[in-house]
Amino acid sequence: MSGERGVLTPRLLTHNRGVNTPRSPSRFGINMRILFIGDIVGQPGVTFLKRAVPALVASEGIDLVIANGENASGGLGMTPGAYRQIREAGVDLVTLGDHIYKKQDIISVLEKDERVCKPANFPPLAPGKEFALATARDGTTVAAFCLIGRTFMRPVDCPFQAADRVLRELEGKASCIIVDMHAEATADKYLMAHHLKGRVSAVLGTHTHVPTADEQIMAPGTAFISDVGMTGPYDSILGRRVDRVLYTTVTFIPSAFDVATGDLRLGGAIVDVDAATGRATAIRRVMLDEAGLEALRGTVQVPVGENL
Ligand SMILES: [Fe+2]
Ligand SMILES: [Fe+2]
Repeated sequence: MSGERGVLTPRLLTHNRGVNTPRSPSRFGINMRILFIGDIVGQPGVTFLKRAVPALVASEGIDLVIANGENASGGLGMTPGAYRQIREAGVDLVTLGDHIYKKQDIISVLEKDERVCKPANFPPLAPGKEFALATARDGTTVAAFCLIGRTFMRPVDCPFQAADRVLRELEGKASCIIVDMHAEATADKYLMAHHLKGRVSAVLGTHTHVPTADEQIMAPGTAFISDVGMTGPYDSILGRRVDRVLYTTVTFIPSAFDVATGDLRLGGAIVDVDAATGRATAIRRVMLDEAGLEALRGTVQVPVGENL
């Protein structure tokens, strides 16, 4: 994809000490920049997030941060405490996925808090809001919502009709709209991106925990990537201990799939959006590991209190 118009060169931040990446040109010269972060896995993921987000925000001039928190607590679900930590790390909006209700304490938060949302194609009686809203640092109102795919996943309502319904609800409320497409199949993600291109700023994939290299801008201005990867231990099977998952897979004897601890990384994408039109002008993958984070922290001043 490199060289394609509107797509910045992908990079592993470990090997790139450059900071303050210039924003891509905007028709009106008022681009805003959004950091979208893939599934946060367990306390190791939350802890790495708390260290990485302030550094990324400072170095990249991020206006708003969105993260998927469905695996934040023990790898399944998100407790109110984990939600608080994620928000305090600098995440403005939190999306979720198929594991949303695994920690049921979160339900009262989902019913009240405007910064977190349930998958919009869950049944109407499933608790939570269908979209989340916040004002970015540049003053732009940004909306985020998430959808669950229907291939190799628990049956849910039609994600295409749900997206259309949420967009009608968002009319006049937000010009910059980011969709977290939480699906197993890449085809489900591409189909949603084509369904929504020109109607939202970005359709960004989560759930598989494995990043893909297909970031692109779909005309006339919707950023897309099949999956941004997870935020947590990469020395693992999708965030869980390799020995446990391998043992159970080979022997069929159940074991506890505890969250792993090694090779912590933040997986995500940075999207530049023309704030006047809501159209994306660039997308770039982010894969930040421990060495990359240390390099980053050496080049930026992280505000006091955020230097966790
Ligand atoms: Fe996940
Ligand atoms: Fe998921």
